[in-house]
Amino acid sequence: MSNKMWGGRFESAPDAIMEEINASIGFDYKLAAQDIAGSKAHVAMLAQQGIVAQEDAAAIAKGLDEVAGEIESGTFTFSRALEDIHMNVESRLAALIGPTAGRLHTARSRNDQVAVDFRLWVRDTIDALDRQLLGLQQALVDKAQAYAGAVMPGFTHLQSAQPVTFGHHLLAYVEMLGRDRSRLRDARARLNECPLGAAALAGTSFPIDRHMTAKALGFDRPTANSLDSVSDRDFALETLSAAAICAVHLSRFAEEIVLWATPQFGFARLSDKFTTGSSIMPQKRNPDAAELVRGKAGRIIGALNGLLIVMKGLPLTYSKDMQEDKEGAFDSLQNLSLCVAAMTGMVKDIAPDLKRMKAAAGSGYATATDLADWLVRELNLPFREAHHVTGRLVGAASARKVGLEKLTLEEMQAVEPRITPAVYAVLGVDNSVKSRVSYGGTAPANVRAQARAWAKKLAKDAARVAGA
Ligand code: ARG
Repeated sequence: MSNKMWGGRFESAPDAIMEEINASIGFDYKLAAQDIAGSKAHVAMLAQQGIVAQEDAAAIAKGLDEVAGEIESGTFTFSRALEDIHMNVESRLAALIGPTAGRLHTARSRNDQVAVDFRLWVRDTIDALDRQLLGLQQALVDKAQAYAGAVMPGFTHLQSAQPVTFGHHLLAYVEMLGRDRSRLRDARARLNECPLGAAALAGTSFPIDRHMTAKALGFDRPTANSLDSVSDRDFALETLSAAAICAVHLSRFAEEIVLWATPQFGFARLSDKFTTGSSIMPQKRNPDAAELVRGKAGRIIGALNGLLIVMKGLPLTYSKDMQEDKEGAFDSLQNLSLCVAAMTGMVKDIAPDLKRMKAAAGSGYATATDLADWLVRELNLPFREAHHVTGRLVGAASARKVGLEKLTLEEMQAVEPRITPAVYAVLGVDNSVKSRVSYGGTAPANVRAQARAWAKKLAKDAARVAGA
């Protein structure tokens, strides 16, 4: 039997392999709610414009609700022979209400239908991700407030560089996530135009009202060019790109957690809830959740690459290649959501070892810059010379295998005779971080102020989300 949705000029059914390669229902069933919402908006518009009779439109809308109910309750049977979600829904509608169902597809095509469904799905997903990322930011800000003054080593080249505070470090991720949210918001703003009514590619001769359907579906306006409407997947690319960058941030953070949780670093302990044991080595506490967040960045970045490559050679307008837009996007965004949830759980539970962090902050001559700054400030040395003097002092301390603060005044004066005992005040890590008061610097007072500002901003965001 040929396809009953489009099989008018076909005599035989598709080859089994054709059906397998062609069908998208195995994944686009996820668009069911959006597909039905789009159809309801479309049929209401057709009725208002007198294109379909009011009673037919009412029957279609009622039938669509019934289909939605069946899908929600799990009693709906998806059929691969019907290819995709659009034809599965329409076919079931026909079974429920009869031939009137066939009027629904007036003045539209699966090309604009899938474009609107996918946009709606991506939009819903952006909104959900935004809420989740907000939650992760809040968890980080809570910890940052608690540990605004907790000294840890700051690294460059993964070598101890200068002492910073744990709160400051956590707020760095709050900034990154803020940019991620802003990128998602930008993508959402550009996404929010409605392609419905572009029909197959050229628009339609029916007197449709595209502004009405756009408004009904929460879009800002209809898309302006019918060709672009059915061939554009920028909204998915932009969202996947924002997702990929966000996944990179989470992956970097996950990597730090993995490092911190090693016995060698010993900076933090993860809760039992986010670690696993080894079946052979009883001492192990493996940070699997963090490792998986790091690992999942691979597929999330891959989905962006995959879709860019699908799109790059396509002539206008729709080509079936574009059906390959969905699986990667679903996978990427669902996994990102899982990663955000896992990171939020880990952040809430993480227990820093403040003693070890502080001890590590003082090792590796991390206050050498403070010493050089002191020589500039107190002895009026040019910075380059101060750098040189400090280098010799570090050399002296390192020859004795002690920290800078353990050098005697005589030993220091052997290098630079004008050094006074006041220098010892800047050699401690607490004084070091306290002195970094420049805007954006690591001084605990700064960190507290930044954390407060973020907490205020996030509370506003949360209220807006709750009110929306
Ligand atoms: N399942 C298709 C997709 O996801 C729907 C659009 C089909 N359009 C067509 N002209 N065959 O892209």
